[in-house]
Amino acid sequence: MNSIYGSYREKLELILNDLTEKIEDLNKAVKDARGEGIYEHLTARVKSEESMREKCRRKGLSEDERSALEEIHDAIGIRIVCSFIDDIYEIVSLIKGFENIEIVEEKDYVRNVKPNGYRSYHMVIAIRTDFADCMGRNPGKYYAEIQLRTIAMDSWASLEHRLKYKKDVKNQQLIVAELKKCADELASCDLSMQTIRDLINEDNDNT
Ligand code: GTP
Ligand code: MG
Repeated sequence: MNSIYGSYREKLELILNDLTEKIEDLNKAVKDARGEGIYEHLTARVKSEESMREKCRRKGLSEDERSALEEIHDAIGIRIVCSFIDDIYEIVSLIKGFENIEIVEEKDYVRNVKPNGYRSYHMVIAIRTDFADCMGRNPGKYYAEIQLRTIAMDSWASLEHRLKYKKDVKNQQLIVAELKKCADELASCDLSMQTIRDLINEDNDNT
């Protein structure tokens, strides 16, 4: 079967690698300056053929390049996992300073927690490229979704994601409630960790 990304598949890899490199460079620069990186790790992926097709169907879109690259904005995805909540906001503001990008959408599920307890900061960016896109624009415009979370938020999200697909389990309501409780407890730990770091930094500033 032909790729849903048509002839743009390789371009997506190129853009993803470029964006990843930019973020990694940012981390190196901060590490050199402060002795401590700005995030713990990141993962980067081009959405698989199968998931993209499934998403098109779910949204009632035709399974073609235009849907995959223009209507849907997470063909390119990067997830940045940080140690502290403040790092999320610092990275967001640094990314906003990147050349050739424009912010298309921001969702702050850290401050506006989803009812199930999900926390993360999502941003959709549009990247200008020196090659054309599927709409015939040149310079081209490609979308990418960046998700930022703490380690605690990330561990919760991956567990919840796994459980979501087990729809037929008993005690569904209890599981949802317990998951929500875990999310809130982890969030409380994140706040404490942030406070500890602030106290340590304050102490260092005074000596
Ligand atoms: P899309 O059309 O899929 O983009 O839906 P949306 O725009 O309503 O969703 P949103 O941008 O808020 O979130 C999309 C991505 O965030 C998902 O693909 C997941 O990776 C992650 N996400 C959002 N909500 C949850 C959640 O409740 N649990 C977990 N585990 N992940 C979530
Ligand atoms: Mg979305």
